[in-house]
Amino acid sequence: MGQTYNGEAIRNFYNNYGEKEWVRLDLTPYDRINFHLHMKLLQEHIGEGKKVLDAGCGAGRFSIEIARAGSEVTLFDISDEQLRIAEEKIKESGLTSKIDKIVRGDLRELSSFEDNTFDTVVCYGAPLNYLLENRQKAVDELTRVTKKGGTILLSVNSKWGVIRNQLGKADFDYVSFFGQPDYWFINEVAETGDLPVHEMVNHPSRHFFEAEELEEVMKKAGIENIQIGGSPCLTSAFREPAEKLAVDSTAWETIIKLEEQAFMKRTMADNGEFIIAKGIKL
Ligand SMILES: C[S@@+](CC[C@H](N)C(=O)[O-])C[C@H]1O[C@@H](n2cnc3c(N)ncnc32)[C@H](O)[C@@H]1O
Repeated sequence: MGQTYNGEAIRNFYNNYGEKEWVRLDLTPYDRINFHLHMKLLQEHIGEGKKVLDAGCGAGRFSIEIARAGSEVTLFDISDEQLRIAEEKIKESGLTSKIDKIVRGDLRELSSFEDNTFDTVVCYGAPLNYLLENRQKAVDELTRVTKKGGTILLSVNSKWGVIRNQLGKADFDYVSFFGQPDYWFINEVAETGDLPVHEMVNHPSRHFFEAEELEEVMKKAGIENIQIGGSPCLTSAFREPAEKLAVDSTAWETIIKLEEQAFMKRTMADNGEFIIAKGIKL
C-alpha cells in the first residue's frame, strides 16, 4: 500500500474542487455516455416509495435524478462544499421536498443510519477509490444500511481503464508518459492498483480496482446476484470519436444502443473507465 487513508485530504480536495464536480458528467458527449449508462443501471431501482441513499453524492448529479424519479433521497458526502452544491442544485430543480436527510460523514462509518434503512444504496463515480485500505469496511457499511432485498449500486475507477484513459488523451505526450514508468508509478498501479500522492497529480491517493477485486469485496459484504460491467464501454477512452458521433443523431443513437447492449457484459468490465456493478442484499 503506497499511502494510508486521509479523510481530511479528501474533504479539502473536494471542498476546493467545487462546481467542477457538477459539470463532470455533462461536459462532453463522452461524459454523457458515461452518465447515461450509470442511469440505465439505476433507473429500475428508484421511483415513488423508494428510500435511496446517495453515498459520496458529490454535487448531486445522481441525487437529482433519484429525487426526480419520485424517491426520497438522502445525500451523504465527506465534503461540506459538495453537499452545499448538491442541495442548491436540487433546490433549483424544485425537488427539495424529496430530500430526506443531508449528512456529512465518512463512508468508513455510516453510524447516522440504522441497519436495513434504504431500498437502494448508490455509491457512484469512484468514492470507493479513495477509501484505500478501508474499501471493504465501506462496502460492508453500505450493505448494512441496505434493506434485505434492496439493491446496492457501485462504480469505481478501473485500473486498466485509467491506463487506457491516458492512451485516449488528445495532445498528450504518450512517449514521455509511458517512457517514465517509475516516475508515473505505472508499474505500481498495474501491480497493486495503488496510486500514491504524486507531485503532478492533483488528487489524494487512490486505489484503482479490477473487476474481480470489486466483485470479491461485494461478495464478502454479503451482496448477491452481482452483475458487473464497464462504463463507458465500447467508447471507453474514445473521447474524440464520441465528440464526432454526437453531431449526427442516427450515429449517436446507434452508439448509445450498442453501449447499452455491451456495457453489462462481464467480459467488458475491465475495459471501461469505470467498473459499474449492482447486487442485492438477500
Ligand atoms: C468523483 S465524486 C462522485 C460524485 C457522485 N457520486 C457522482 O458520481 O457524480 C466523489 C465523491 O466522493 C466523496 N468521497 C470521497 N471519499 C469519501 C469518503 N471517505 N466518505 C464520504 N464521501 C467521500 C467526495 O467528497 C466526492 O464528492
